[in-house]
Amino acid sequence: MTEVKKQRTLAEPFKIKMVEPLKITTEAYRIKVLEKAGYNPFLLSSDDVFIDLLTDSGTGAMSDKQWAGIMSGDESYAGARSWEHLEAVVKELTGMPYILPTHQGRAAERILYGILGGPGKIFISNTHFDTTRANIEFTGATAIDILPDNAYDPEIDLPFKGNIDTDKLLGLIKQYGKENIAAVIMTVTNNSSGGQPVSMANVKAARKICDEHQIMMVIDGCRIAENSYFVKHREAGYQDKTYEEIAKEMLGLGDAFVMSAKKDGLVNMGGLLTLKDATLAQKCTNLLIISEGFATYGGLAGRDMEAMAIGLKEVFDADYLHYRIKSTGYLGEHLKAKGIPVVWPIGGHAVYIDAKKLYPNIPVEEYPGQALVCDLYIKGGIRCVEIGSVMFGKYDEQGKLIPAKNELVRLAIPRRVYTQSHIDYVLDIFDDILEMRSQHHGYKITYEPPFLRHFTAKFEKMIPLAVPAN
Ligand code: F0G
Repeated sequence: MTEVKKQRTLAEPFKIKMVEPLKITTEAYRIKVLEKAGYNPFLLSSDDVFIDLLTDSGTGAMSDKQWAGIMSGDESYAGARSWEHLEAVVKELTGMPYILPTHQGRAAERILYGILGGPGKIFISNTHFDTTRANIEFTGATAIDILPDNAYDPEIDLPFKGNIDTDKLLGLIKQYGKENIAAVIMTVTNNSSGGQPVSMANVKAARKICDEHQIMMVIDGCRIAENSYFVKHREAGYQDKTYEEIAKEMLGLGDAFVMSAKKDGLVNMGGLLTLKDATLAQKCTNLLIISEGFATYGGLAGRDMEAMAIGLKEVFDADYLHYRIKSTGYLGEHLKAKGIPVVWPIGGHAVYIDAKKLYPNIPVEEYPGQALVCDLYIKGGIRCVEIGSVMFGKYDEQGKLIPAKNELVRLAIPRRVYTQSHIDYVLDIFDDILEMRSQHHGYKITYEPPFLRHFTAKFEKMIPLAVPAN
């Protein structure tokens, strides 16, 4: 078992000006509401959740300066002051001349990949996020993930486990022909592979390959500030650069940048698409105006754009980023020290638990990840998400489950929302989870929709739960 170095308190670099009360519930109450929700925490009322680790997307807390920006937002239809503010901040960050605001990340993806995609087209990424893949496949194109083979090992300790495999990239270009590759997409940090960072050297190497074959490179950078933290502290030559300088250098390597601002934009809603090429920008702007809104608001209120412009500066604050990455690491390292199998090393925005290892006696067909998700809610009112065979499992022709590669559970940390004592509470609940390690049964699915079943599927417990008296 790992020794966790005795660490001084990680004091949050902010003080609390407004509070949102949390409801304290009993285990008996939580069993009742979870049963009503078909043992799917997506179907719970958030009022019944004590610590919500479902996602880090749009769940962060804005600063007083951002709230002040909300009040001074300009709601003009065209050429709003808040748009000009956002455009200037994003131009400076990306170095790209064409900036399109969208209501969230997947809207930027739909516009860009709708134009670049189509039957026969191939997209290659370190790992496509689900909405990225869905928007690509919706056009009839193919999305291929190429992590280095060893990066799939949940335990191997690599500094940049989110990197793309450049040998495989060259192989795929040869296999499909460079004219059929619509784009190489670098997802930083690499959400689906554990929030793992991507090195500058890797993005440069991918850029070189793209240049040699005239292929477009897109950076999906919704966690670009978190990635910059890892580059500064893990990659030679970056120690003396600021986080913002590192982000600028990386974004400057791309031909396009898509961003869900709900992450490192530090806002609750918003997205961006930025481009270098004028012709492509024109096409995207036309689609933006048809489907999102006029080119100077793209589905956002003026106040949303004002808050995003401020958030995109605040996120690079050295004290904030240090706290952000260290607090995610704090949860992950302490879970590891307790003997909970976590994906290692800990990424930027979330801790991933290997549920198959934690609950070795629960067969994959009974979804050990879903069992852990339910146990965490029942024991502690903690909500998180299964990333395993509920999310990615398929059926063969006989209706037998084809399981996912891993049975993971993600604890995603909202930005600036929970304090260290909330995280210590989560750690305490894992003591109860450890006592349940020997359980033999999980859940069966009683209802599932044909697509994205994890959102609305319903489950039944294989062995009914004993409801405590409280
Ligand atoms: N790209 C990445 C890498 C993401 O993590 C997400 C969202 C998106 C694109 C889509 O952005 O939600 O604004 O449309 N990730 C969230 C998550 C949903 O929970 O990881 P969006």
